[in-house]
Amino acid sequence: EKGGYEHFMLKEIHEQPNAIKDTYRGRLRVKEGIIKMAGVDDNLERFLNANRIIVVACGTSWHAGLVAEYIFEDLARIPVEVEYASEFRYRNPVITEKDVVIAISQSGETADTLAAIKLAKSKGAFVFGVCNVVGSSIARETHAGAYTHAGPEIGVASTKAFTTQITVLTLLALKLAKANGNISISEFHKHLTELELIPNKVAEALKADDHIKTVAATYKDAKNCLYLGRGFNFPVALEGALKLKEISYIHAEGYPAAEMKHGPIALIDDQMPVFVIATKKGHYEKVVSNIQEIKSRSGKIIGIVTEGDEDVKELADHVIEVPETLELLTPLLTTIPLQLLSYHIAVMLDKNVDQPRNLAKSVTVE
Ligand code: F6R
Repeated sequence: EKGGYEHFMLKEIHEQPNAIKDTYRGRLRVKEGIIKMAGVDDNLERFLNANRIIVVACGTSWHAGLVAEYIFEDLARIPVEVEYASEFRYRNPVITEKDVVIAISQSGETADTLAAIKLAKSKGAFVFGVCNVVGSSIARETHAGAYTHAGPEIGVASTKAFTTQITVLTLLALKLAKANGNISISEFHKHLTELELIPNKVAEALKADDHIKTVAATYKDAKNCLYLGRGFNFPVALEGALKLKEISYIHAEGYPAAEMKHGPIALIDDQMPVFVIATKKGHYEKVVSNIQEIKSRSGKIIGIVTEGDEDVKELADHVIEVPETLELLTPLLTTIPLQLLSYHIAVMLDKNVDQPRNLAKSVTVE
């Protein structure tokens, strides 16, 4: 049942090339130059007339929502707010009929997300679901939606659900950008073409596994870790830190790289591994100068870089390469080494990778 892998988590990490393909199959039509999503086509006016999009989710799904915020605003120029479902529902939020709420949930059973949906519906908002589990409560409660089609995710730590959620949300953003005229036809085509190449590039990123294992062995005894990223990769830093916490029980924090100097830099010493997402294009020079700040305080630097990178390699203690792609698609690649790192560290520390203590696969309590 684990398909020859030692754990479900590892199997699910390796399933991502195919899972992403399953997510865009039938939707991404590069030759025809269209994206087909019935749940969007049937409600296109609701999306196009929206004052804003409010994303509600928890945990890893919330991180996918944050990535989506950057992508929606960049491509479709629609304002987006991303809310923890638990905060949103309890704070008397302003919701109107002109709002579109996107609820993201792997299980489709998360109690706070479900309650946030019911609240949004009662205020007249249009609610769109992005779920993995077919026929789940959230899938049934939303007005329309798009499944991720990632296949069953058994490991408690979410992996393929995250990358397939980002894939669905990217398709949605591209579709809306085309419909509202914020993207040129040639840019639209470029994005479709690049998105189609992502599964092969994820497969490429997975090949760094042996190297990642040696990096994991180097840092497995750390007591604290920092994860830094900027722009589209800031949420990936949050997700990297969450993965490490959940399965290895090492304290980790994700931060926007530029926020370092406003506090967390005080933590840096030679005992602190700092994982920095430093792919080309994404404010690369700025990230390089953030790396210099860490280095001058003796922090250990592990850079997640674009293939062939030179600058970060020179400064960092270790680098892990991912293939090049469009900047807004980089989260689909930079996430991969961070998942593998957490996995290997947890295995080396002899933790229960698939069923970490205190956690459940779906959180049906409030
Ligand atoms: C992290 C993780 C949790 C879930 C969260 C939301 O690896 O698994 O943080 O992402 O409980 O769950 P869903 O997506 O099922 O609503």
